[in-house]
Amino acid sequence: MRTTPGLDDAFDRAAGRYDLLTRLNPGYHRHLRAAAHALAERIGGGPGRLVLDLGCGSGASTAALVGAIDDARVVAVDASSGMLEQAAAKSWPAGVEFVHATAEALPELGLPPAAGAFAAYLIRNIPEDGRDDVLRIIRDRLAPGGWLVVQEYSVAGRPSAVRVWTLVCRFVVVPLARLVHGSPRLYDYLWRSVLDFDSTAELADRLVGAGYTDVAHRDATGWQRGILHTWVARRPG
Ligand SMILES: C[S@@+](CC[C@H](N)C(=O)[O-])C[C@H]1O[C@@H](n2cnc3c(N)ncnc32)[C@H](O)[C@@H]1O
Repeated sequence: MRTTPGLDDAFDRAAGRYDLLTRLNPGYHRHLRAAAHALAERIGGGPGRLVLDLGCGSGASTAALVGAIDDARVVAVDASSGMLEQAAAKSWPAGVEFVHATAEALPELGLPPAAGAFAAYLIRNIPEDGRDDVLRIIRDRLAPGGWLVVQEYSVAGRPSAVRVWTLVCRFVVVPLARLVHGSPRLYDYLWRSVLDFDSTAELADRLVGAGYTDVAHRDATGWQRGILHTWVARRPG
């Protein structure tokens, strides 16, 4: 496994209250649904079409996929057993499966080529020197012409976005996490990891460098404009 050291434990510990905090984040589920629709528009529906939800966490991104793509087979993968337990405890239609594995270990899962993959808030959590490899691993799990959608916070190179992100973390996210979890550690990490993460152009360049085509990016709406972004990228057909 090549996850960020200590991160799986931090997610395990935060898992029980994770959904509560995402519910308190205005737009969290709406933005996931919009990104899942971006994937659905590109791959269409159809029984048995395989879609991967990478870093599925407690299942919020999985639910967005299930709502957007008819009759898909969804394999949802996460490195944290605590987050997966939260996800698996929810009620899911047939065809949704949760797997405890890292994104790096995808080739070992023996899955057929996927029509699409969704990585919502995953790539930032991969150590910087492992991101290109993970993007290549995902590309190789896609069928030719298959699509990847990445959803991430990114503020690098935009001082006003850095300011808003820092204010929101300092005065809303971290205090709320202290209240809800008792410890804001994971959310302090969230703040810092977003400040350290690739700019939107750098992530687009990574995708191109990892062999994707048709790379495009769009900004979120609402207070997260300039902070939250969606990239689409295609494995060449
Ligand atoms: C911020 S949560 C996002 C969960 C979900 N996608 C959502 O949108 O709510 C990030 C998840 O990525 C998982 N994760 C981090 N590194 C990973 C890796 N290398 N492979 C698989 N999962 C990973 C964490 O365990 C965590 O559950």
